[in-house]
Amino acid sequence: MPTKIEKDAVSGTMTTGHEWDGVKELNTPLPSWWVYTFYATIAWAAVIMLLYPSVPALSGYWKGLIGYSAREEVMQDMATARQARAATFQRIETASLADIRRNPELFTVALAGGKAAFGENCAACHGAGGQGAKGGFPSLADDTWLWGGSLSDIQQTIQYGIRNTHAESRQSAMPKFGIDGVLTNAQISDVAEFVLSLSRRSTDAASATRGAAVFAENCVSCHQENGTGNRELGAPNLTTGIWLYGGDKASIMETVRASRSGNMPAWVELDPMTIKMLAVYVHALGGGE
Ligand code: HEC
Ligand code: HEC
Repeated sequence: MPTKIEKDAVSGTMTTGHEWDGVKELNTPLPSWWVYTFYATIAWAAVIMLLYPSVPALSGYWKGLIGYSAREEVMQDMATARQARAATFQRIETASLADIRRNPELFTVALAGGKAAFGENCAACHGAGGQGAKGGFPSLADDTWLWGGSLSDIQQTIQYGIRNTHAESRQSAMPKFGIDGVLTNAQISDVAEFVLSLSRRSTDAASATRGAAVFAENCVSCHQENGTGNRELGAPNLTTGIWLYGGDKASIMETVRASRSGNMPAWVELDPMTIKMLAVYVHALGGGE
């Protein structure tokens, strides 16, 4: 039952005018600082809605008085970034490999580009991190090189490949000593024993000594007297303990008997800039010279 609004004698607060069974309801308003903050946020929202894109309409939306668009800003940022990238690519195209390697900015971009191209074109044979694979696919991440580990050696290898039909391809062939009847089985066994001794794994000193003579006569022209190989011919260093085709005696004998000829395609269809980035990337895998 409504009664009149009055001041409550106990609390000193105004009543609302409601009363039930003699109990009167007090009117305790929110603190004024709270109320004004509340109105201020509403006013702020109204201003923002006016200034910025806000209310959707059937066709389009309220674009705001200052015409701001986050989307346009992103597009502009992207255009600027693309321009900067294009400029960097252009510099990579004209810079020498050594300059790219020295310039941190070009190096970073080349490394990223090289890594992407490597995953696409090379990882199938050389492994995702260039760690190589069994059966003649060399690791590109160690410092043992068949054909050379300088930036320009690597670039040449990538561009023209190895033992393919391209005129500029790297070429060489180890004779098939067994198949062509140049060496007997016993001589092949001896020379394999000598090759084992080059990485201190020979178990038959007499055989290895006989093998040394076979090696001196048939192998040094490519692998050198001490077995350290020849990069002009892609003849591997036989003293490192790192093997393309296996370093156990049976594998070595098979290599001497029938020879191997690993081949890698020429990458002439890749553009010169990608080849450059690949060379920089491979060089940086760990063994670059
Ligand atoms: C079809 C398999 C195959 C593909 C694909 C391939 N390679 Fe090779 N690559 C080889 C083989 C096999 C050799 C070793 C050839 C030899 O015995 O001399 C080699 C050798 C190399 C060498 C020389 C290593 C050294 O020790 O001198 C480099 C550098 C190289 N590859 C880089 C690349 C890059 C970069 C790509 C991608 C653009 C690539 N390869 C794609 C098979 C491949
Ligand atoms: C005309 C040059 C030439 C001559 C001569 C030659 N080699 Fe080779 N040898 C090579 C080349 C090139 C390779 C690498 C083949 C490849 O990469 O597929 C090789 C590879 C090998 C390998 C494999 C190494 C590995 O990492 O798996 C062995 C072992 C080897 N030669 C031993 C010999 C022995 C022993 C003789 C002498 C009986 C000999 N070679 C004579 C050129 C030669």
